Amino acid sequence: MASMAVVNLHVSTTTKTHCTLSSPSSSTRKLTILPSHSLLFHLPAIRPLHLHHRSLKPLKATLSAVDTPAVTDGHDEGSKPLLEIRGLTAVIAESKQQILKGVNLVINQGEVHAVMGKNGSGKSTLSKVITGHPDYEVTGGSIVFKGENLLHMEPEERSLAGIFMSFQSPIEIPGVNIVDFLLMGYNERRKKLNEPEVGPLEFLQILSSKLDLVNMKSEFLGRNVNEGFSGGERKRNEILQLAVLGADLAILDEIDSGLDVDALRDVGKAVNGLLTPNKSILMITHYQQIFKIIEPTFIHIMDDGRIVKTGDIGLAKVLDKEGYKSFSVP
Ligand SMILES: Nc1ncnc2c1ncn2[C@@H]1O[C@H](COP(=O)(O)OP(=O)(O)O)[C@@H](O)[C@H]1O
Ligand SMILES: [Mg+2]
Repeated sequence: MASMAVVNLHVSTTTKTHCTLSSPSSSTRKLTILPSHSLLFHLPAIRPLHLHHRSLKPLKATLSAVDTPAVTDGHDEGSKPLLEIRGLTAVIAESKQQILKGVNLVINQGEVHAVMGKNGSGKSTLSKVITGHPDYEVTGGSIVFKGENLLHMEPEERSLAGIFMSFQSPIEIPGVNIVDFLLMGYNERRKKLNEPEVGPLEFLQILSSKLDLVNMKSEFLGRNVNEGFSGGERKRNEILQLAVLGADLAILDEIDSGLDVDALRDVGKAVNGLLTPNKSILMITHYQQIFKIIEPTFIHIMDDGRIVKTGDIGLAKVLDKEGYKSFSVP
């Protein structure tokens, strides 16, 4: 069906979605995502991934956090805005409950932005609204990505434009092999770019070159998507998707949660390995350990649907000492 052709699946709570996967190793089969799940399989720009480590820019923001986030201050002069969010408000589509209450955020090329904040403050909602998740309705404000109005784009167009999202809780797709899943995404993207599709054998070569990056063994590829995966394996799988598909903006929702020290280091290193001076990250996290590996250019604190504080790594130290209470909206 048409919505499946782009392999960027949003499944609302009232619909069933099917897609067809085939490869020599598996007979053609249909993937059905049942109500209440949603699967977003992003297909951002495919171009050679430059796996050299990005030299991190020195942090330019002042050490003291700003009360009213000055969304354009502190960015490197000359770097281009990639994502510009202004006054964004959004409600839950079904209940109309307002979750986002005026978010301002500007991410320039090559910047790493961390969003922190209490549970329920709207962090995951913000990231899902950026990707066009159907559970939410934007009621005001704007999101501009690479100079284009993102709100006019379908979710699949957003991923084709270069946005990748790793979900906080990636869903299991029983019976669908990782290789089939990734190959489908990879080829859909190539079709969009009018490039010839690659066959499974060629794709396996592409894939195996990425496995080292996430420190995964090739046996992993024999598994089904997220089926029986440990927390660490799920996160590694997400990063493998990012490595294969590429992205200009990778949104990583709690990529570090539930990971042991080794997995955290691997995942952090893998993300770092994908960074180039033009690529940007929006990462949602509760833990500062990840900042030792993926150094944020800015840290934002979200509370009650707004970014209430923006600062640099110094803000994480304040948080460590004082917790979120001093940043809460009264
Ligand atoms: N699809 C949804 N249906 C119902 N409530 C939702 C939905 N998405 C988010 N919420 C609610 O919105 C608030 C913010 O959620 P979320 O963005 O997940 O917070 P965070 O990621 O900061 O913990 C929470 O109260 C959550 O229960
Ligand atoms: Mg969340």
